Amino acid sequence: MDAATAIYPGSFDPITNGHLDILNRAREVFPRVVVAVANDPGKAVLFPAETRLGLVRCVLKEIGADDVEAVGFDGLLAEFARTIGARALIRGLRAVTDFEYELQMALANRRLDPDLETVFLMAEARHCFLSSSLIKEVARYGGDVSPFVPRCVADALRDAFRSSGC
Ligand code: PNS
Repeated sequence: MDAATAIYPGSFDPITNGHLDILNRAREVFPRVVVAVANDPGKAVLFPAETRLGLVRCVLKEIGADDVEAVGFDGLLAEFARTIGARALIRGLRAVTDFEYELQMALANRRLDPDLETVFLMAEARHCFLSSSLIKEVARYGGDVSPFVPRCVADALRDAFRSSGC
């Protein structure tokens, strides 16, 4: 295990400016940050796992974050974290409504791997209302999502809802 490696996992369906804020804060603290895009067949998502990963990579390129790796993973996060040697697991906290779910996940992950420490980071206040679900809803009804997501994500959302006719 490597104390210098942090994993930043999520569904990223799609990645938002709020996620990027958390990622950039993690980069300030950890020398190596790996963004891990979950492929959970039980979760209803707009974008397939390969597309979500492709969007994360596109965004990393857009912001010039050459130091950050993005990978996909299946199965248990704690096990995947171990395979990449991560000691820290990054999660963003927005409002108190996130807390119960995050606490449950952090405690479960601690049980699964006591050496994996969950680290919560708070996004800037102006990002605290952002969520992938909210952004998808705005995009579904033809609203402008460009203030909330990087350019390649805004393009992908526009294409997704144009082609689905929703
Ligand atoms: O962005 P999300 O949807 O809040 O991320 C949740 C995610 C992907 C981190 C979580 O569902 C996860 O870790 N999935 C992998 C399966 C797993 O390990 N589940 C137990 C977590 S306690």
